[in-house]
Amino acid sequence: VGRTPLIAGNWKMNLTREQAIALASAIAATPPSGSDVALFPPAIWLTDTAAAVAGSPIKIGAQNCWSAQKGAFTGELSPAMIAEIAPLVLIGHSERRLILGESDELIRAKIDAALAAGLEVVFCVGETLETRQAGNAESHVANQVHAALDGRAVEDFDRITVAYEPVWAIGTGVAATPADAQEMSASIRTELAAIDAAYADRVRILYGGSVNAANAAELLAQPDVDGGLVGGASLVAADFLGILGAVSPGI
Ligand code: 13P
Repeated sequence: VGRTPLIAGNWKMNLTREQAIALASAIAATPPSGSDVALFPPAIWLTDTAAAVAGSPIKIGAQNCWSAQKGAFTGELSPAMIAEIAPLVLIGHSERRLILGESDELIRAKIDAALAAGLEVVFCVGETLETRQAGNAESHVANQVHAALDGRAVEDFDRITVAYEPVWAIGTGVAATPADAQEMSASIRTELAAIDAAYADRVRILYGGSVNAANAAELLAQPDVDGGLVGGASLVAADFLGILGAVSPGI
């Protein structure tokens, strides 16, 4: 299959400026081997974090963006402005869907704007516990995938990575089982194949939700799980480097 794993740290709304620089520097000082690495710091520390990893293979991204490049959108983040500092953006995280009320339509418009600005997108999907218990997890995630990705130009697909993050596993310490992560990742890949078969074969599908150094290797060993999107365990250098070490024995 030959998909290079991607390990991404989503720092969410954590870390002081000093802590952000120190963490990014510590990760950049241990060059990843065999995996791609990305960090999503708070936007206000993007410039500092980019400087801290300059010269390393680590990519930086914003945790969100708006759906227009400029204008009267007080407090929002322009994809074009992000692109001056960082190559990546996270779009559709469940915290934005559920706490900020972002709709599938807004998320699609944000992906449009991010691609137009030249950014690469890590696009997040995932179901709540209620949806899973009702037996609707796969159809819910399939709907999120199709709402965001149907009808896109083939050349845009290679700039979109998908992250499956079940809401019930985020920040709970209860990760999905490797079998559950595999099942949903395979289901997502099947949905993507209906959009573009070649893209579905090469797209990286990440798993997120209570990933740590102890469970990362088994999760990433699943054939359709191509990386991790890590929250809590990305905030401490030793923990994040432990995950990198667990999935990239070359370190
Ligand atoms: P945790 O790793 O803290 O569960 O967070 C996962 C996540 O939401 C990453 O985007």
